[in-house]
Amino acid sequence: MLPKCHNIDEVRTLAKRRLPAPMFHYIDGGADDEWTLNRNCSAYSDYQLLPECLRDVSTIDLSTTLFRQPLALPFFLAPTGMSRLFHHDKELAVARAAEAAGTLYSLSTLGTTSLEDIAAAISTPKMFQIYILKDRGLTLEFVHRCKAAGYEALCLTVDMAMAGNRERDLRTGMVMPPRFGLKSLWSFATHPVWSMNLALHPDFKLANVAHRVDALGGGAMGLIDYVNSQFDRTVIWSDVEWLRAQWDGPLILKGVLSSADALRAKAIGVDGLMISNHGGRQLDGAPAPIDLVRSIRQMVGDSMDLVVDGGIRRGTDIVKALALGANACSFGKAYLYGLAAGGQAGVARVLDLLKTEVIRAMTLLGCAAIAEISERHIHGLVETLNSPGQR
Ligand code: FNR
Repeated sequence: MLPKCHNIDEVRTLAKRRLPAPMFHYIDGGADDEWTLNRNCSAYSDYQLLPECLRDVSTIDLSTTLFRQPLALPFFLAPTGMSRLFHHDKELAVARAAEAAGTLYSLSTLGTTSLEDIAAAISTPKMFQIYILKDRGLTLEFVHRCKAAGYEALCLTVDMAMAGNRERDLRTGMVMPPRFGLKSLWSFATHPVWSMNLALHPDFKLANVAHRVDALGGGAMGLIDYVNSQFDRTVIWSDVEWLRAQWDGPLILKGVLSSADALRAKAIGVDGLMISNHGGRQLDGAPAPIDLVRSIRQMVGDSMDLVVDGGIRRGTDIVKALALGANACSFGKAYLYGLAAGGQAGVARVLDLLKTEVIRAMTLLGCAAIAEISERHIHGLVETLNSPGQR
C-alpha cells in the first residue's frame, strides 16, 4: 500500500483507513474552528516560486547545518507526544527513520519512549522537547538526563500555557490512555487489527515522566492528570533565562510567532526558533508560520537558526520557507500519518517523498544547493510583504 502513496495526502488517506477515528482525528485536528490549521497549509499558496533558467543542476546537495549539527536534509521531525496511539513501534520507528534519512529527530516530553531508549537506538542528532513545568525539579532532571544521554539540543515549547480546544477529540470520544468507550466503540470494532494490537501490547506509558507518578502511587490515568497539572501559566522570560543557564548546548524556543518575542529570545542567548503555532492545535486565529518567517528574519538577522514548523505537505512548501529566510522546516502530522500507515517504513516513505519533491523543486528552480535558495526565487515578494497577513 505504501508504494502506492505518491504524496503526503495519500499517506494521510491510508492512515485514516488504518486508525480508529479518535486516533486519526487526534493527529489530524486543530483548535476551535480550525482556521489556523487550514491557514497553515493554504498560506503556502500565497507565494509563487520564480525559477532561474540555464543553471547547472546536474547534482542537488540537500545538506545543511542546523542547531550546530550537520544534517543531510533541510527538514526534520517535530516533537509529537503519544506515538503509541498510532503504532506499536512508537517513537523508535520515527527516530530510526530519521536516522536512516540523516536528519534530526526530536522527542517530546510526552513521548511514550524514554529519552534514554531513543539515545541508545540512534547515532544521528537528537533534540529533546522540554517544558518549564510547575515542578522545576523535573525540568532540571530532564536537562541532566539529556546531558547524560548525549542529546545535542533542547527545544522549549512556549505555546502550551494551557491545552487548545480540540473539538474533534470531544466528538470522537478521544481519551488517554485509549479506552473502549461508547462513542468510540464502533470505530474500534471496525479497526480490529489496531484494537487487537493495543490489547496485546498495552504499553501506553508517558515514559519520561512515569517514574514521578509511580512514586506518587498513580496509575496510567493519574499520569495524564499529573502532566496536565504540571503546565505552568506563570512561566515568563526570566524562566527561560534560568533554563539557558542550565544548558550550554543549543537552546531552541518552539512556538514563537511575534518578531518582538524573537528579539527577546535572541537577547537572552537562545540559539534558534521554531516559528510555530503548534500545528493549529493551540490558538485558533494565530497566523501561519510561513507568513512570519521573513519579518522575523529581518528582525533577528542571520545569527539565529529559524525553522518554519506547520502545514508542510509538499517539497515546494519547504523550498518556499527556505527562500523566505528559514534555515529548515519541521513537521508533525505528515510523519505521524506515515507512522500510522506503516510504522518505520511509513515514516521513511514520507521522508523520501518530501526529499524527492525538494530535489525536483530545486532542480526546476535552478538551485543546486540549499544556500543558493533565496528571496529572489519568490515572485512578487514586495506585494506579499505589504499585505495585511504580514502585519
Ligand atoms: C504535536 N505537537 C507537539 N509539539 C510539542 O512541542 N510537544 C508535543 O508533545 C506535541 N505533540 C503533538 C502531537 C500531535 C499529534 C501533533 C500533530 C502535533 C506539535 C508539533 O511539534 C508541530 O509543531 C506541528 O505538528 C507542526 O504542524 P504540522 O506539521 O502538523 O502541520
